[in-house]
Amino acid sequence: MELIDGNQAATALIAELKAEVATFTGRKPCLALVRVGEDPASVSYVKKKEKTAAEIGVTSRIILPPVTITQEELFALIDSLNADATVDGILVQSPLPKHIDEVAVFRRVSPDKDVDGFNTINLGKIAQEDDTGFVSCTPAGIMELLARSGTDLKGKHVVVLGRSLIVGKPIALLALQKRAGANGTVTICHSGTANLPTLTRQADVLIAAIGRAEFVTADMVKPGVVVIDVGINRVPDSSKKTGYRLTGDVHFPSVAPLCAKITPVPGGVGPMTVAMLMKNTIKAFHLRSTH
Ligand code: GUN
Repeated sequence: MELIDGNQAATALIAELKAEVATFTGRKPCLALVRVGEDPASVSYVKKKEKTAAEIGVTSRIILPPVTITQEELFALIDSLNADATVDGILVQSPLPKHIDEVAVFRRVSPDKDVDGFNTINLGKIAQEDDTGFVSCTPAGIMELLARSGTDLKGKHVVVLGRSLIVGKPIALLALQKRAGANGTVTICHSGTANLPTLTRQADVLIAAIGRAEFVTADMVKPGVVVIDVGINRVPDSSKKTGYRLTGDVHFPSVAPLCAKITPVPGGVGPMTVAMLMKNTIKAFHLRSTH
C-alpha cells in the first residue's frame, strides 16, 4: 500500500505558484475571502487560505459579515467585490447560515472571479470540457493528486460516493472527460443508492465524499483499489486537547491494507484544495486585463 501524500504535492505546487507570482512586476493577484459567522471549521479553513495566500504572494482581503447578515446584504457585498477592479477572485465560504440560499449566493459571484467554481457557468464548462472556466478546488485537487501519483483513470471504473455540488458532481464530470489522465467509467452513489457495497466493491478508484465519518469499511472495497478520501469529519475524542479528532469518510485502519494507494486524512486532499484555490486565483488574475 502506498500513501498519496497531499502535503508533499501541495508544497510542490505552492512553490511553483510562488515562483510564478514573484515574476509579476505590478499589482499582485488579490483574493477576497468572505466568511459569514463563526462556524469553527470555516474559521480554520479561511485562516489556512489566508496563510497560504501570504506564502505565495497573493493578497487576501478577509471580509467577516455577522451571522445575521441578510441575503440581500450579502448580494450587495458580492456585487461590490464583482465591480472592484483590484479583486481577482471571490470565495464565499460554505456552509452559510440556513436563512441564506447558498446556491443563489454562488450564482451571484461573477463567473470570471468565481475561483471556487460553483457558479452555473463554471460548472457548465466542466460538462462542456471547456478549459476557460474555473474548476472547484477540491475536485481540481483530486485530479492533480491522481496525476501526480501516477494514477491514470483511462479504462478504470471510478466510483464516486456523494453527489454534492462542491465535490461529488464536479469530480464525476472531471473523471469522465475525454482527455489524458481522465476518460474513466463513472458511477455516482449516494444516500439513496441500493446495494451500495456491491457498487463500491467494483471500484478501481473510489472517491469517498459522502461526509460521514469512517463510512467506507473493508467489506466495501476490492483489493488493489485506489482510494481518495475527501471527508474531513470531526469526531469527539476526549484524549485530544481540542476535544475532537479529524477522520475521513474511510475507516483507514481496515481499508488501507487492501489498497494499492490511499490518501490519508489529514494530509491528503485537504492541502491540495487550498493550493488549487491559489492556482485558480492566479488564473483569474491572468484572465482579467486590469493589471
Ligand atoms: N466548504 C467546504 N469546501 C469548500 C470550498 O471548496 N469552497 C468554499 N467556499 N467553501 C467550502
